[in-house]
Amino acid sequence: MAGLIPQGFIDDLLNRTDIVEVVGARVKLKKAGKNWMACCPFHNEKTPSFSVSPDKQFYYCFGCGAGGNALGFIMDHDNLEFPEAVEELAKKAGVDVPREESGGRRKPRQPTDSPLYPLLAAAAEYYRLALRNHPKRQAAVDYLKKRGLTGEIARDFGLGFAPPGWDNLGKHLGGDDLQQKAMLDAGLLVENAESGKRYDRFRDRVIFPIRDSRGRVIAFGGRVLGDDKPKYLNSPETPVFHKGQELYGLFEARKHNRDLEEILVVEGYMDVIALAQQGIRNAVATLGTATSEEHIKRLFRIVPSILFCFDGDQAGRSAAWRALESALPVLKDGFRVRFLFLPEGEDPDTLVRAEGADAFQARFVQQAQPLAEYFFQQLMIEADPATLEGKAHLATLAAPLIEKIPGNNLRLLMRQRLSELTGLGNDALSQLAPAAPPQDAPPMDYGDYAYAHTEEAPVQQQWTPRREGKGGRDGKGWKKDFNGKGGGERIPRQPPVKVETPVLAALRSLLHHPTLAQAVQDARDLAEESDQYAQLLVALVEALQKKPGQSTLALIARWHGTEQGRLLRALAEKEWLIAGDNLEQQFFDTITRLAASQRDRSLEQLLRKARQSELSSEDKDRLRELLSRPAGSVT
Ligand code: UTP
Ligand code: MN
Repeated sequence: MAGLIPQGFIDDLLNRTDIVEVVGARVKLKKAGKNWMACCPFHNEKTPSFSVSPDKQFYYCFGCGAGGNALGFIMDHDNLEFPEAVEELAKKAGVDVPREESGGRRKPRQPTDSPLYPLLAAAAEYYRLALRNHPKRQAAVDYLKKRGLTGEIARDFGLGFAPPGWDNLGKHLGGDDLQQKAMLDAGLLVENAESGKRYDRFRDRVIFPIRDSRGRVIAFGGRVLGDDKPKYLNSPETPVFHKGQELYGLFEARKHNRDLEEILVVEGYMDVIALAQQGIRNAVATLGTATSEEHIKRLFRIVPSILFCFDGDQAGRSAAWRALESALPVLKDGFRVRFLFLPEGEDPDTLVRAEGADAFQARFVQQAQPLAEYFFQQLMIEADPATLEGKAHLATLAAPLIEKIPGNNLRLLMRQRLSELTGLGNDALSQLAPAAPPQDAPPMDYGDYAYAHTEEAPVQQQWTPRREGKGGRDGKGWKKDFNGKGGGERIPRQPPVKVETPVLAALRSLLHHPTLAQAVQDARDLAEESDQYAQLLVALVEALQKKPGQSTLALIARWHGTEQGRLLRALAEKEWLIAGDNLEQQFFDTITRLAASQRDRSLEQLLRKARQSELSSEDKDRLRELLSRPAGSVT
């Protein structure tokens, strides 16, 4: 069987192709502003609602929802399978279609099989072997030894070495321009913007491969051997690496023990590894980012208990507070979060090596603070409940945060505690809590998505505890510092914007389970949606109904090279969080909601028209039909 067509080739091909030419060769197009219009070739219509955008290189029909890039158009118009459509475009462009070797190692049932994975695996192997064999490896070996690591741990974590020099990996993996482009995509090579020269990203560094939950290498961290800056260099965001979601060491922790009860979250690569070296093999680290809600959700799917283990310094305390804020909205009863602050100047790596695993673990029992305790302790530093002003301020800060907790019992207990501290009753406190946040996020450009869904949306103002006590784990030595007027400038941090709207979630469901499209009644009823995501959703449903059995890859390929394509790819590669039945429910809820809002809109339009003039008989039929459908359930 022929191998896969490399993604890079499709990119190139689409770059050389002009969709206006492709469509124009098959449909009579008329210029309309920046775009071209025609009567849609995919459904019967008298007035043109089919548009082709030369800027965006895609087509979309406002009448029936068909849409995609030049490839998608050829697939649907000429009724070709995806590879045939590629061949067709390639023929026009005068190039041959290359095929990748199809090795026997491809895992079944993966939503997408990015060509970046084998490349990253090959790079990891190169670095690993360099740590064993490269003539310049000694400095790296000495460095790791100095940090107390044995070969066993180096093996378990797949540690490697990127030798000094600009072109080691580049040469080793070599290949043609497409391969090089893929290496750029994978973050392995860097391209100089001016000269166009390409060189190895990681040079003369110890390499920490970052693996996803299935053990696939998705990125690297590289540490300098000396004191150069930056100390750690990480892979950039890539189609397979979203650093705001990944946890370093999670795969290794689970591999070592499938029945974990608690996971430790620490700050650095070396903390994870040093703890493992001492036999504490349940630590993970975020990758230089704050702990996100996504991180915590992920951990709670594996263990009921999370222990954050941070430095006792200012940075560690800020990190802890942010982790707490991320934890609140996912804290169901039965789950717990604790915080352990280490003496200033220590991190888990230095401490566990100094005092050993037993002493270190004894701290969990003796010093770890439950979330609720830490919560009130920190807020009482900001707002001293000994004064009335302090009580008022405390209530203002705490109430909205407490209301985020989904666990009924914990929420009630924390409310009660706030009540005791402030003397305010439930009614007064509940007025301080904001109304439930809106379900849908504001519309967003596709282009931001790959970024936005991985990082927390920018937060304008952030509240973090202002005073830090010295070694004050018991809270006693902490200075009370509240002046009754100061509250205004420090507002609690807004909840991060929820970036995955129902429509995005539905898109993702559809990508992972294309068969869902078969059960959608009439996608055209959704087509006039003005929301660009909804348009994309309709286009996918349309494409799948026309040609069932398309793979996720083929589906994405229809939008390859466009902003929508990037969005779809990012969605397809996002880890699957919703259970199967939920997913279906969510998908159809979204479809129903879109259909209902579309019905309401059409109805309103027709009624407005009717007020102004006599409706045509076509309009009347349409009106009757709309009125016979169930009313919109949109809120
Ligand atoms: P730290 O500065 O606390 O370093 O960064 P560390 O983990 O103690 O490192 P060692 O012990 O000196 O080797 C914590 C984490 O922040 C990210 C890394 O993920 C690191 O593990 N970081 C730090 C970077 O990404 N880049 C940097 O330059 C520094
Ligand atoms: Mn350290």
